[in-house]
Amino acid sequence: MSTRIYDCLKCIGEKIIENKDFLTDLDREIGDADHGVNMARGFTAVIEKTSPDDPDIGAVLKKTGMTLLSTVGGASGPLYGTAYMEAAKVLAGKDTLSAEDFKAALEAAIAGIQKRGKAEKGEKTMLDSLIPALDAYSAKIAEGGSLVDGLEKACEAAEEGIEFTKTIAATKGRASYLGDRSIGHQDPGATSATMTLEVIRDFLKG
Ligand SMILES: Nc1ncnc2c1ncn2[C@@H]1O[C@H](COP(=O)(O)OP(=O)(O)OP(=O)(O)O)[C@@H](O)[C@H]1O
Ligand SMILES: [Mg+2]
Repeated sequence: MSTRIYDCLKCIGEKIIENKDFLTDLDREIGDADHGVNMARGFTAVIEKTSPDDPDIGAVLKKTGMTLLSTVGGASGPLYGTAYMEAAKVLAGKDTLSAEDFKAALEAAIAGIQKRGKAEKGEKTMLDSLIPALDAYSAKIAEGGSLVDGLEKACEAAEEGIEFTKTIAATKGRASYLGDRSIGHQDPGATSATMTLEVIRDFLKG
């Protein structure tokens, strides 16, 4: 049984679906106005396909990744799909999540995104929220912080990452076609990635 991970994913999906228009509007500024639509379609399918009866955390995340891969499309479908599938490998067979488990899963997710998207920090993508979030998370748990303490720091860093994306030009993805005209706009993927971390934080805080 994996009721908690299912409930958490459902909350992530609901948040993304709630923010469909907001994410799409951000992508209208520097892309092709589909990020929210893409992600909402993907998470609607994820909520349908996953179940509290799936055997463990890894199984739910694997199904999530595969579903996102096949339904989201665009750049973000393969990237988020890979992220969830890589996290699933790390959490295979687990029923509970320790602070170290979450770190390992986030690391694997980011490595998967980077392998697939060939991007680094500073290119105005979801990585500008996720990489600082991982760094802040790791620092907090290294000093003895709990999973939730780490996530509080991760979310602060991810929010700062969104702000940072406003100050730089995109060098990856569709927004890179705009060059310097992308400066001043926040990255849609960094925004959806930050929302994801915030939902996990709030879910675990209870
Ligand atoms: N190479 C990459 N590495 C990491 N993230 C990326 C990369 N390319 C794009 N992104 C992220 O994807 C987001 C855009 O996702 P979206 O769903 O709108 O796909 P898209 O760019 O419209 O795809 P396509 O151009 O194939 O239609 C960006 O805001 C950015 O955060
Ligand atoms: Mg787009």
